[in-house]
Amino acid sequence: MEKYLDLRNKLDFNGIEAAANVIKSGGLVLFPTETVYGLGANGLDENAVKNIFIAKGRKQDNPLILHVSSYEMVEKIATDISDIERQLMEAFWPGPFTIVLNKKEIVPSSVTGGLDTVGVRMPSNKIAHELIHLSDTPIAAPSANISGKPSGTNLQDIFGELADKVDFIIDGGECKVGVESTVVRVINNIPVILRPGGITPEMIQEVIGVVEVDKHILGKVEEGEKVMSPGMKYRHYAPNSKCILVYSEDNLKLVDKIKKITSEYKNPLVISSTENKNLYNISNVIDMGSKNNLSEIAQNIFTILRKVDSYNPDIVVIEGVPNEGIGLAIMNRLIRACEYNLQIV
Ligand code: TXA
Ligand code: MG
Repeated sequence: MEKYLDLRNKLDFNGIEAAANVIKSGGLVLFPTETVYGLGANGLDENAVKNIFIAKGRKQDNPLILHVSSYEMVEKIATDISDIERQLMEAFWPGPFTIVLNKKEIVPSSVTGGLDTVGVRMPSNKIAHELIHLSDTPIAAPSANISGKPSGTNLQDIFGELADKVDFIIDGGECKVGVESTVVRVINNIPVILRPGGITPEMIQEVIGVVEVDKHILGKVEEGEKVMSPGMKYRHYAPNSKCILVYSEDNLKLVDKIKKITSEYKNPLVISSTENKNLYNISNVIDMGSKNNLSEIAQNIFTILRKVDSYNPDIVVIEGVPNEGIGLAIMNRLIRACEYNLQIV
């Protein structure tokens, strides 16, 4: 396929130019970042951006992140940037960090869902960086998945649902972080996390001295309630099967509770830590990684959520992780995958 560029394990990026030309001419490019794959288009081209919404089946009021490769690009799209905002960008860029800034006129309102702010991120993934640089424009890119589905962290997971909707595909192998970027808005000089991700609250606290977490991160958004990050309103990450998330600080209690739940079903599936996977005595267990290595779990979680339905389970029980570090991002995704069906024991 002409529009496919395989850059797995390659250090020379010849060929990205062709993808950049697709961006410049208003097309869609599927490309890797360090967090998840992105579905990219020229972020300053109203029509190109509209095609992203169509390809994903995404609601118009859910704003897109603009991906940049330089601070000049930031200045082009955002205004009134405060010292704290600059400090955050310098600390966490390039990397899995998105900052919501006041937008300039040049940013089409279709990108921002009608808001007067714009989410901006400078990815660290070299392929993403080169693509933005050669395109010479900020690239609007949501996670590459049909709206509502888990994000894609490798090409195989999303090829089927997106390949025929894009003009160019770059394969960069597995994404390193595995969950999306942390989205932050600075309000009254306090960084507020609107969506947890690759940069943890603890890391932000260390740089700025304070950090707040929006209450919707682990809670449900009520019908009609106003949220700072519109993406939080929508059903997300959920398999078709019914899922329950169980958490306990006490591992014995956790395993007991999960055994009790699964005993009531015919074909249960447990998504388990490596440490507990042999304790459930059922045939369908997926190992999500060691509970002592939350980064590993973060990296695996979307691929696992995509596999769930293939087991045809009558119940899926998922082990929760502590809300610390990247655990907060994992729990935010899992709570949504389970449609707020969380049991703490
Ligand atoms: O890691 C990532 O952020 C990936 C990769 C591709 O960069 N992108 C991504 O985009 O996750 P998306 O569209 O799936 O999620 C963007 C999130 C949504 O929850 C959206 O509501 C929020 O960012 N967001 C974007 N612009 C915003 C703004 N101006 N104000 C508040 N929230 C915003
Ligand atoms: Mg998304």
